[in-house]
Amino acid sequence: MFEQIARVPGDAILGLIDAFRQDTNPVKVDLGVGVYRNDRGDTPVLESVKLAEARLLEQERTKSYIGSHGDPRYTDAVLSLVLGERSPVLDAHRASATQSPGGTGALRLAADFIKANLPGKSIWLSDPTWPNHLGIFEAAGLDMHRYPYVSADNQLDFEGMISALEQAPEGDVVLLHACCHNPSGFDLDHDQWRQVLALIQRRGLLPLVDFAYQGFGDGLDEDAFGTRLLAESLDEMIITSSCSKNFGIYRERTGCFILIAKNQEQMENVRSQAAITARENYSNPPAHGGAVVAEILGDPELRSRWVAEVDEMRERINGLRRAFVDSLAPFGLSERFAHVAHQRGMFSYTGLSPEQVDRLRDEFAIYMVRSGRANVAGLRREQLDYVARAFAAVCQ
Ligand code: LMR
Repeated sequence: MFEQIARVPGDAILGLIDAFRQDTNPVKVDLGVGVYRNDRGDTPVLESVKLAEARLLEQERTKSYIGSHGDPRYTDAVLSLVLGERSPVLDAHRASATQSPGGTGALRLAADFIKANLPGKSIWLSDPTWPNHLGIFEAAGLDMHRYPYVSADNQLDFEGMISALEQAPEGDVVLLHACCHNPSGFDLDHDQWRQVLALIQRRGLLPLVDFAYQGFGDGLDEDAFGTRLLAESLDEMIITSSCSKNFGIYRERTGCFILIAKNQEQMENVRSQAAITARENYSNPPAHGGAVVAEILGDPELRSRWVAEVDEMRERINGLRRAFVDSLAPFGLSERFAHVAHQRGMFSYTGLSPEQVDRLRDEFAIYMVRSGRANVAGLRREQLDYVARAFAAVCQ
């Protein structure tokens, strides 16, 4: 029976990991998959994580299941991190959190939850968005619509976004990136978040906020502005959060599926559904990453060490953004790429075409996603001139 099954192309982003590994060119540059790298090109384990893991090794007494909602120390800590220490939403017991296998697992829970509990509702995704959003929601059988997000001249298309979402039928779900939009790097400002809130209220939409990069834009609290504004102003909302990037625990698969309801009673109802969704997908989440995060966030000393590490990662990326634009000045390209300094998070939509990206790979061993997305965190200071020269060559 298997002979009828066709081979499909692999995932475009994850495929870059292998392609880069196989490239023997010593000057190769990896601006592909979204992982943070230091100036030596490594993705080291954070110091705070190492310390927490040493404690866990000492203290761990069992490997038994942790339950479909996961470890409450972890989920409570994530709720405070996402919604704020003194959130009225938490005081009102309106938020439920379910530990998930990564942010991707949280998104799949969200997709299955919507499919099972909100029949007939479609989801609206930004164009562009993280390509795996399309895969996840399609696999769950949801109807998808797109709203414009980036204009042809590579700027945030806020007007296009708003006018498309004005057409969304009541009760449809709109996926928003909390910060550090993947792939574009264009984020909403405070006033734009307020306009999105007003639109959601006017049209009766349900926001699903994907929060995968908290701390990588402007700061842990600053990046939560839009998420908290919606949570405190709306009766209902879904949030998917990830600790992969801000704790650097990518392979530990540590995420959270958050449901906010009108009151505690309704929260308990939707929470019971979340447990079933998790059970049917994978039963219980992996425990280790959540235990690490709970240990760090629950200990003042480890927590402040971690906050400093997040600050350092963010500042390195934002410094690289400016330095990259400066390094393009000798080629007369700093204006054309000025947006790179203003975008936020790991990613930048550079505005390069797929053919230009191919040339970067073939002629300079610089790896990026063909959409023109570059992982700025993959740049190293000593490579800036080389990368700028390569960009200049393909832009001629
Ligand atoms: C990315 O967009 O590169 C990251 O989120 C990694 C992934 O899973 O695609």
